Amino acid sequence: MAALPGGGPRTPSVRIGPIDLAARVDEALAVQAVAFGLGPEEIEVRRHIVLRHLDHPCARALGATTADERLVGFVYGMPNERGQWWSTVVEPYLRATGSVHWLDDSFVITELHVLPHYQNRGIGRTLITTITDTVDQPRSILSAIDTDSPARGLYRSLGYQDLARQVLFPSAPMPYAVMGAPLPLRRRG
Ligand SMILES: CC(C)(COP(=O)(O)OP(=O)(O)OC[C@H]1O[C@@H](n2cnc3c(N)ncnc32)[C@H](O)[C@@H]1OP(=O)(O)O)[C@@H](O)C(=O)NCCC(=O)NCCS
Repeated sequence: MAALPGGGPRTPSVRIGPIDLAARVDEALAVQAVAFGLGPEEIEVRRHIVLRHLDHPCARALGATTADERLVGFVYGMPNERGQWWSTVVEPYLRATGSVHWLDDSFVITELHVLPHYQNRGIGRTLITTITDTVDQPRSILSAIDTDSPARGLYRSLGYQDLARQVLFPSAPMPYAVMGAPLPLRRRG
């Protein structure tokens, strides 16, 4: 369990540790809705997807919670399986760039979100490094909207490199980049 100090009454300290994400799925989706921008219909769709993912025996989740148990950030992921929807969508793109082997022995970061008020305090970095430190796989992959966002900056600083760009997911309006990094993730300094 990691603790991150607060910056005064408006940014209280948070604890980072394992959470029962299935039990807290509505709280987590409320965080994602604010951080990433999800409408009510998308939340309902995501709810089913998250609960199905969490059925995977090796799925893991961590949360960032305040002293009064409010969830302000979370991450979850699982070992990649070639038959999973995400993997089948990205596979042809990775094949085209000669990086399809990244789909094997890889831990997928499925979601990572921090409430805006709590961002840029190291919570996202701690969530993703802590979860990947506990997995057996030698590498990690993920997809992020293909723009110059804080998320892309964070992933690059952790050692994630672009494996494919302009990846189109059915029903997603924006193209994504698929990124991969060796584990353990790179530390600062
Ligand atoms: C991506 C996200 C989870 C990062 O969480 P966070 O708690 O703000 O991350 P950290 O404070 O650990 O920031 C780590 C790095 O992110 C980058 N970063 C964070 N905020 C940034 C900002 N406003 N502008 C530019 N870079 C920023 C920096 O590289 C920072 O590195 P530093 O620690 O050396 O300064 C958060 O920005 C978020 O929830 N974004 C919206 C949802 C989203 O895009 N999720 C990812 C989906 S793929």
